[in-house]
Amino acid sequence: MPQDNIEEIKQKIDIVDLLQEYIQMKPAGTNNFKALCPFHHEKTPSFMVSKDKQIWHCFGCGEGGDIFGFIIKMEGMEFPEALRHLAKKAGVELQYQDPSVNNQKTKLLDIIKAAAQFYHKILLDHPKAKFVRDYLSQRGVTEDSISNWQIGFAPHGQDTLNKYLVQKGFAEGDIFLSGLTLKKDRGTGYLDRFRNRLMFPISDVHGNPIGFGGRWLGDEKDVAKYINSPQTLVYNKSNTLYGLDKAKQEIRMLKQAVVVEGYMDCLASHQAGVTNVVASSGTALTENQVRLLKRFTTNLVFAFDQDLAGDAAAKRGIELAWQVDMSTKVILLPDNIKDPDELIKSHPQDWPKVIKKAQSVMEYYFDSTLANMDLHQVEDKKNIAKILLPVITKLADPIEQTHYLQKLSGLLQVNEDVLRDKIKQLSPSSKKLETSEQVSREGTVVKNRFVSIAENLVGIAMTNPQHLNYISAHVLPEHIPDDKLKQLYKSVVIYYTKKQDFDYKTFIKSITDADSSLATYADVLSMKTEQDINNIDGETLKQEVIKGVIELKRRFIQERLKEIEVKIRQAEEQGHKDKVEEFSQRFAELTSELHQVS
Ligand code: CTP
Ligand code: MN
Repeated sequence: MPQDNIEEIKQKIDIVDLLQEYIQMKPAGTNNFKALCPFHHEKTPSFMVSKDKQIWHCFGCGEGGDIFGFIIKMEGMEFPEALRHLAKKAGVELQYQDPSVNNQKTKLLDIIKAAAQFYHKILLDHPKAKFVRDYLSQRGVTEDSISNWQIGFAPHGQDTLNKYLVQKGFAEGDIFLSGLTLKKDRGTGYLDRFRNRLMFPISDVHGNPIGFGGRWLGDEKDVAKYINSPQTLVYNKSNTLYGLDKAKQEIRMLKQAVVVEGYMDCLASHQAGVTNVVASSGTALTENQVRLLKRFTTNLVFAFDQDLAGDAAAKRGIELAWQVDMSTKVILLPDNIKDPDELIKSHPQDWPKVIKKAQSVMEYYFDSTLANMDLHQVEDKKNIAKILLPVITKLADPIEQTHYLQKLSGLLQVNEDVLRDKIKQLSPSSKKLETSEQVSREGTVVKNRFVSIAENLVGIAMTNPQHLNYISAHVLPEHIPDDKLKQLYKSVVIYYTKKQDFDYKTFIKSITDADSSLATYADVLSMKTEQDINNIDGETLKQEVIKGVIELKRRFIQERLKEIEVKIRQAEEQGHKDKVEEFSQRFAELTSELHQVS
């Protein structure tokens, strides 16, 4: 029984110390502490922690338990992971022979950890990896960094890693599920996913490697510069920030997190002594990543590449941060400097300075919008207003809002009142366009983003039937995340299939008799869509349709993945090994399906 382990861990970890890492507690009486409950929204604290009983309880939402219960809930872990996590913290060695200490997730974690060690050792010792060691040293990466970040090299052999792991006792099926191998196209067997690549292990917030980014070291145009681990049971790119395990202490201390794009940017910054830095790994920040950061600070600084993609990523990040009440600043790198890595390499002493001089979001929006515009051109003036006014309307403080309106009015030489009138015309649809997820100030989702996307698509299908063919071929009713909308969409598709044509008025007539409320809904929706797409040209609309379809499909698969995760856990709890196997297989299939949708 791991019972002894559990007791030992409980003796070594004080509940107050542990919870302090997550929440702000205030003494309440001699032995108790009080805090705002992290598990529900409240304004006055009803979350109590007892030092002598070593328990917590929230009198608001009724949740409670010991250190294990807290970690399970707070980290979204299952018991075996929580046990490992706390054992590591307490310095307690677990009795691994106990099967209850291992589940599918911990099995995958073990495999990935072994792979990281393997790649690392090859980089350090193998004669054929000398060119990689040279590459790193030429880029200024020190031996300390190589070891701290466990950087490695994946050899070029077809299945060197797979063979190694099998010989260490791991099952090929599990190795595949950890994302490290691919199934052979022909015949049976597996190939290493990463070959001949510089390997960056990606860790979860506790420092356990969960996936990899593999950089190609040549400069061939037709080879992907990076290959990343696919989504697995333990790795989800959009929930992960590279370097967070190493940055979290400093982020808390400095009350600020700097977000860069690349693995190399992050590593270079840490190496230069600026350690409150994480990498978003290239893609625009996701809501989950922002929420993850919010556990440590509410102040974000973006240092994205000085290009259009970087600009878009920064704006998306700002939007998200705004929605969850975090404050953001944006770093402007000196001219001709592409990314933080380059700056750190050439002027290391300037890096902390540019962080300190990060611009407020509004300054950034003004500068980046004005950069390529000509203030003497009427068209450009209109465009500037079109971009900046919606941003200005989002400022909650009227003084701040007026300040920037005046600034814009001065720049454009347009009366402030004209701009205010313009704002009235813009909203609320301008807000909608920019804001992908409508989150209230309490952080609860007002309307699910995917419902909005689906509404948009169904609306377009009804009002612009030239897109109906494409939409009906790609969107299944089950992809629609709302029952009423699903019903409407079904009716649209059935009507269209039958008539091979779509006439809105006769369609509405045809559904009115059966369900008049559905007809009303259709009317409201198409009205809204007509408004929304009023100024959008044909090509943009087409792109929006394609994007919407992809997002719905991806969400649909993600939801299935979540369900299967639950099933795997249940099967594990009931000891159904074959079911675990079967569901894990299904999980992997869906993941590769997910990969294909884009
Ligand atoms: N990225 C990716 N896939 C690609 C290109 C980039 O996943 N094909 C991600 C990686 O996480 C990468 C980040 O985007 O770290 C930033 O890309 P880039 O600036 O091109 O790479 P760097 O890490 O800065 O690499 P280097 O400095 O060696 O060019
Ligand atoms: Mn770079």
